[in-house]
Amino acid sequence: MQKRLEDTIEYLNAKANFKPEIGIVLGTGLGGLVNVIEPVATIKYADIPGFPVSTVEGHAGQLMFGYLAGKKVVAMQGRFHFYEGYDIQTLAIPIRTMKLLGVETLLLSNAAGGMNPNFKVGDVMLITDHINLMSTNPLIGHNDEFFGPRFPDMSAVYDKALIQNAERIALEQGLQVQKGVYMAVTGPTFETPAEYRMMYRMGADAVGMSTVPEAIVARHAGMKCFALSIITDLGVEGVVEEVSHEEVIKVANAAEEKMTGIIKQLVAEM
Ligand code: HPA
Repeated sequence: MQKRLEDTIEYLNAKANFKPEIGIVLGTGLGGLVNVIEPVATIKYADIPGFPVSTVEGHAGQLMFGYLAGKKVVAMQGRFHFYEGYDIQTLAIPIRTMKLLGVETLLLSNAAGGMNPNFKVGDVMLITDHINLMSTNPLIGHNDEFFGPRFPDMSAVYDKALIQNAERIALEQGLQVQKGVYMAVTGPTFETPAEYRMMYRMGADAVGMSTVPEAIVARHAGMKCFALSIITDLGVEGVVEEVSHEEVIKVANAAEEKMTGIIKQLVAEM
């Protein structure tokens, strides 16, 4: 069972002494959002007591404190994935750290495969709900009532007002966005055509290997959540093509500007 991250918070307070109200988790190929943050302090995960260390390619592995559109934020440049071999409970650490630092709203992004036949590669999808198909849950184990209840409600994980605002902002910026249900799987394999078909029939519009554990931990701790996916490849019947991590990163990089524009304005209006 985790302690309440006293060492982690003490270290971050000593290093940054910054009370962010918004937390941001940047997905594969989407770390460039940090370029629009006015940094106050940047701290490598490897230097933070109690923090796991990121291993996957395309992730910088650091926490950045600073100002985005005038708001105090903390951004994770690089996240931790279950497929890297961490215990599922380890994925709670950065989110609970943000909570303890004072974060009230968590913004998440990811790269995802699209099953909805209306989707195109490069689309932004605002996540309206999720399906946890990881067959595990970051809240398994002793429940620390300090953070939240044993059996947390998940009836509205993604904040409706933030989704509405993001949709309007996208329109104002001349961007077409999709909305849909995100399904989380463990990875690291991409899906077979039969799996994509099953997932679509189960009610998911997109699939990926992240975000859901973090959203669960955030909701458990009473934080508001907003998440979006960049559709980097399609798992649509008849159009399933080969996928590679390189292609995912390339498409995510190309769509980064769209995501950055939406998040920046969303934060400005908070
Ligand atoms: N499946 C799972 N995860 C992903 C995909 C996908 O097709 N694309 C990007 N992340």
